[in-house]
Amino acid sequence: MEKETIVFLYRLFKKYWLLILLALFGSILESGALAGVAYIIKNVIDDVFIAKDYQSLIFVIAVLLILATAKQIGFFLKDFIYPLVIYKGVKQLRETFYKKLLNSEPSFILRQPTGEIISRFTNDLERFSQITSTIGTNVITETFTVIGIIAVLIYRDWKMFLLFLFAVPFLSVALGYFGEKRKKYSKKLQESLAEYTQHLNQIISGFEVVKLFSKEIFYRIFKKINENLFQREKKNRLYETLYLSSVEIIAYTATAGIIFYGGSRIIKGEITPGDFFSFLGGVLILVNSLQILQRGIVNLKGLSPVIDRIKFILELPQEKDEGISFEGLKREIRYEHVSLKIGENQILKDINLSIKKGEKIGIIGLTGSGKSTLVKILPALVKEYEGKVYLDEHELKEYSVSSLRKHIGMISQEVFIFNDTLRNNLLIAKPDATDEELIEALKKAKADFVFKLEKGLDTVLGEKGSRLSGGERQRIAIARIFLKNPDILIIDEGTSALDVETEEYVMDEIKKYFSDRTILMITHRLQILDIADRIIVMEKGKIVEEGRKEDLLQKKGVFSRFYSLSQKC
Ligand SMILES: Nc1ncnc2c1ncn2[C@@H]1O[C@H](COP(=O)(O)OP(=O)(O)OP(=O)(O)O)[C@@H](O)[C@H]1O
Ligand SMILES: [Mg+2]
Repeated sequence: MEKETIVFLYRLFKKYWLLILLALFGSILESGALAGVAYIIKNVIDDVFIAKDYQSLIFVIAVLLILATAKQIGFFLKDFIYPLVIYKGVKQLRETFYKKLLNSEPSFILRQPTGEIISRFTNDLERFSQITSTIGTNVITETFTVIGIIAVLIYRDWKMFLLFLFAVPFLSVALGYFGEKRKKYSKKLQESLAEYTQHLNQIISGFEVVKLFSKEIFYRIFKKINENLFQREKKNRLYETLYLSSVEIIAYTATAGIIFYGGSRIIKGEITPGDFFSFLGGVLILVNSLQILQRGIVNLKGLSPVIDRIKFILELPQEKDEGISFEGLKREIRYEHVSLKIGENQILKDINLSIKKGEKIGIIGLTGSGKSTLVKILPALVKEYEGKVYLDEHELKEYSVSSLRKHIGMISQEVFIFNDTLRNNLLIAKPDATDEELIEALKKAKADFVFKLEKGLDTVLGEKGSRLSGGERQRIAIARIFLKNPDILIIDEGTSALDVETEEYVMDEIKKYFSDRTILMITHRLQILDIADRIIVMEKGKIVEEGRKEDLLQKKGVFSRFYSLSQKC
């Protein structure tokens, strides 16, 4: 095992040392009992079968009973407690994973395929748990057994033991060669499994869209993924089997040699039949133990690639939450020469904009013109910009991200609803809110539909909120905003799924409730721009027009063209 792997395991499991000691005791008990059985065979043959001594028979049976009891106690301790330690460690890992995920850089996570991350949480952890369990149950226990049995073998007949030892170099060559192959395919297999999970994930999350398009292409893609997975499973298994069978061939050849050599020594009278059978019994236990041990060691070869995949999650770039606390806007938001380039794509170009506290800004522009990116800078969801963004006298990056997010609220087109009760879905906006407050917020968001739900706030919203229509989901998002009561409010097409009448009602509520707050409102529906003090028009990452609605209409520029087009609809 590599040093890093050992360090990783040590850090994870060291606090369970007492349990590990108990399990180790179980291993020793079991191994000791097996060695005892191999040892006592000599007495069975020589004293009972050959000397026909009745007292020896009673003695031998009593010893065997004690050995059997010790072995079973040992078996229970090792077979239950090693895995228990692993489960405790894995539980801890899952929790650390989850924390790392929630604290990671948003831009980094958005660039990763979802399935890749999920499979590290599921398949890789499962595999880690399987492999590490075998360290205790197979590797450690069988190592003790091997040591105990070897002691018995040397004691019974060291010459014959040397003969047996002759097989060892052959064993280690086979071990090295096939072990390497196994390691390689174990890693490839994990990658294929991740690809498989990821594809299913995408199909299920976009199921309705999938239905409306050609299934043929999906089948074709899937068949390729499935074939790949199969080939790797096959190769993985093949090398494992080759590995194990080469070990067996060598071991049984050695056994044949022992029977030949031992037999001739009994004939010559150099050893007793009891010595021989005790030795042979020991060899059979040893072969069995070596096989289990090797299987454990083969498995261990897969451990370091799995740990590498686990470490990816543990090393996810984490957001730093340091800096001064943003306690709400006092005077203004000011963008100074803000540009943003992702890859070759210039998303924002030299944005200069200042927004007074309490001002309501409407932002419009063609799709892809950079509107969402512009506003996502404020709650630090987008950080890679050049230039400066000031909130009062401090640049955005001087503030701690958590304080920014606490005071900046956002309603978007995409509403995040998780598979839990309506109450919990609302409480994420204000964890200590009372039921009355939740209902009040739902009313302001005109989310009347929830009052018809049989279980009210306890209704479990289906996965991805599938029990709700687009407009209903959006009203939950709006209710959350009333609960969160942010200082700066961003509405990124946050009412686009509502009918005109409901939208007007909700906008009036927002206007009334947030009258003194700063609001940035992105919309494609120009009618609701009436609440805006000022309108910004964006085109290809630039602000191309800016001013009051009436002035922009008079100017007969981009905005007035948009406006007359929207009037025609
Ligand atoms: N994380 C990202 N990586 C690469 N390109 C991005 C990323 N986010 C946005 N873009 C690109 O930036 C451009 C502006 O996107 P943005 O979402 O800001 O547009 P928008 O004006 O809000 O459009 P819409 O009206 O469609 O919502 C688009 O071309 C988009 O593809
Ligand atoms: Mg957008």
